Amino acid sequence: MSYESYLISVVRPLHYTTEKERMQIIRDTKFNLFSIPSKKVTFDLLTDSGTGAISNQQLAEIITGDESYAGSESFEKLNKTITDITGFKYVIPTHQGRGAENVLCSGLLVSGDVIPGNTHFDTTKGHIEVRKGEAVDCTIDEAKYPTSLNPFKGNVDLAKLEAVLKSHPKEKIPFVLITITCNSGGGQPVSLENILEVKKMCHKYGVRLFLDMARFAENAYFIKTREEKYRNTSIIDICRKMFEGVDGATMSGKKDGLVAMGGFVAFKDKEIYDRCSAYSILYEGYLTYGGMTGGTMAAFAQGLKEVVDFEYLKTRVEQVARFGAWLKKEEVPVMEPFGGHAIYVDAKRFLPHILQSQFPAQALAVAAYLEGGIRGVEIGTVLADRDPKTRENRYPALELVRLAVPRRTFTDNHLQHIAKAFGALLKKRNSIKGLKIIWEAPVLRHFTCQFEEVS
Ligand code: F0G
Repeated sequence: MSYESYLISVVRPLHYTTEKERMQIIRDTKFNLFSIPSKKVTFDLLTDSGTGAISNQQLAEIITGDESYAGSESFEKLNKTITDITGFKYVIPTHQGRGAENVLCSGLLVSGDVIPGNTHFDTTKGHIEVRKGEAVDCTIDEAKYPTSLNPFKGNVDLAKLEAVLKSHPKEKIPFVLITITCNSGGGQPVSLENILEVKKMCHKYGVRLFLDMARFAENAYFIKTREEKYRNTSIIDICRKMFEGVDGATMSGKKDGLVAMGGFVAFKDKEIYDRCSAYSILYEGYLTYGGMTGGTMAAFAQGLKEVVDFEYLKTRVEQVARFGAWLKKEEVPVMEPFGGHAIYVDAKRFLPHILQSQFPAQALAVAAYLEGGIRGVEIGTVLADRDPKTRENRYPALELVRLAVPRRTFTDNHLQHIAKAFGALLKKRNSIKGLKIIWEAPVLRHFTCQFEEVS
């Protein structure tokens, strides 16, 4: 099918601003795009997290949700769907993905521990570092090259992983974490072959393996369409193969759960579930709601059923790829191959005159807002934050502006317009200036960081 796998039944208006208004807003918010009121953003590509459209069946589930504090039927629906897709029997519901990370890390991680993985997402890294643990990035080197066409740039480098597993006692490694797809690395998928190899290695060293499954269905779609061996395997069977033999997973329902809010952490073994569940009650809520309403849990269960549909995934991933192609047509340097949920503009190539110490990706994100009311997000030095020991800026290999595409929300016309705005910006790129930080929070600074222009 070359057309969308759904019809649109509820819409909301776009908001417009003038260039003068946008200039004032940028000055008022001190170049922080998170601080802009949504009504002052025309095309909000800040995130694909909780910003998509729900289906009519999800809406029905929201209305008929069971709001009982304990033993809610809606939780049972969610629990059953998760077990069906992942095989994990023990599920702790949480308010969102970072809640799941908090519960997992509270139960398993202590100071001095090491968590190897493929470029941990920033909240995951935050939960590890706040407990004085270390998140070790074992992603393949090719992930650093925006023009490398490796179809699985989220893959773990097995030699790097083995070096970490060899050089630390296994008691210091509570788990290895693979993020599917790898968000911080450009929405890049991890191949099933790689997941199976990592599983084998973790078993060899007696270390647990967890998946951050926020975009698991998009990852499964890439496996089906890019990994020859699985071309004829259904999405649901690919999912089951990804999770088989894994110890557990954290999930942000705001992505491939197709809901505005929600998450869970799920386990194969009851022993770890028991260890983590006390923290769930402390931070998230009782074990059968974890911060979600009954309606949200039921809609989340329905979303998980819809997300593993091949036609849904094709619609989703192909729209993102068309967006990437339109940007390329405007000669905008983008990260390739295109990821599942977003297109990443390469700010180092877009703004070669801005030093990395002057946050080129943040400068580009601000310029896109000024140009067309477009809100993307910086995935570069601001997000990479400071080294917790030396407090120096960490300079990542890539300076990217992520243009995340909310699910079932934008039309091709919208995305073509946005690509043209980036094309116009490219023509006047020399007028874009670098930035310097004037205020930052001690942890997860990118949400609230304030800047001024470097003259
Ligand atoms: N893991 C991944 C891979 C994520 O992308 C996110 C969130 C989380 C965990 C945390 O989940 O937001 O529900 O607490 N990513 C959002 C984004 C914020 O914009 O990419 P959460």
